[in-house]
Amino acid sequence: MKLVKLLANLGYGSRKDVARLIRNGWLTRRDGSTVGLDDDFLHEDLLVDDEPIDPPQGVLILFNKPIGYTCSTKDPGRVVYDLLPERFRYRNPVLSTVGRLDRDTSGLLMLTDDGHLLHRIISPKAELPKIYEVELAEDLRGDEAALFAAGTLLLESETTPLAPAVMETIDTRQARLILIEGRYHQVRRMFAATGNRVLSLHRSRTGRLDLEGLEPGQWRIVPRDEAESKLFT
Ligand code: URA
Repeated sequence: MKLVKLLANLGYGSRKDVARLIRNGWLTRRDGSTVGLDDDFLHEDLLVDDEPIDPPQGVLILFNKPIGYTCSTKDPGRVVYDLLPERFRYRNPVLSTVGRLDRDTSGLLMLTDDGHLLHRIISPKAELPKIYEVELAEDLRGDEAALFAAGTLLLESETTPLAPAVMETIDTRQARLILIEGRYHQVRRMFAATGNRVLSLHRSRTGRLDLEGLEPGQWRIVPRDEAESKLFT
């Protein structure tokens, strides 16, 4: 791919802007030499404004979502993209969230521009466990774990029961829930079905991928081999 197209697709600017910036010596190699518009290049050798260039298509981003941000690109309020570099909004192919977290849910959210990878992660067949830490308004009744494990719970306005889920009691109003599916507002609706209310919800893990080293609002790129080993093996 031509340099100008590559950089425009990575969201660094329009083709015109990017061409101008390259002419101004904004793109260099790790050895300090300047890269011209028609030069050959190795992606991993390129620096943009002295920073390593963003990865090409096929990126997976791990983000620690704070509460108060939605996953939509169209929401008029605060959106997760506000906490990522501005250029990420303009990548082509687009960087989509892998599933969603509610505005008032915090924790592990992935984003990718790789449709195949996204499908592999969210496909019900993958049965990838998602771990949620839940705080409740009322004391647990004591029968929730058995109810969730049964695989018979039918949520309001749905026609198929939920897959079995594992619930661990942490405290009288605190639980950990392990789900292999991701239905709309699932955790909140599961506890609502038991007459309780979720006060706070945090996704701490997907597969074996967790948020270690990431404060709320921080993100990192997940190398492909780490994604494969922590999500699919
Ligand atoms: N379940 C919910 O209710 N909300 C989320 O954001 C994720 C799972």
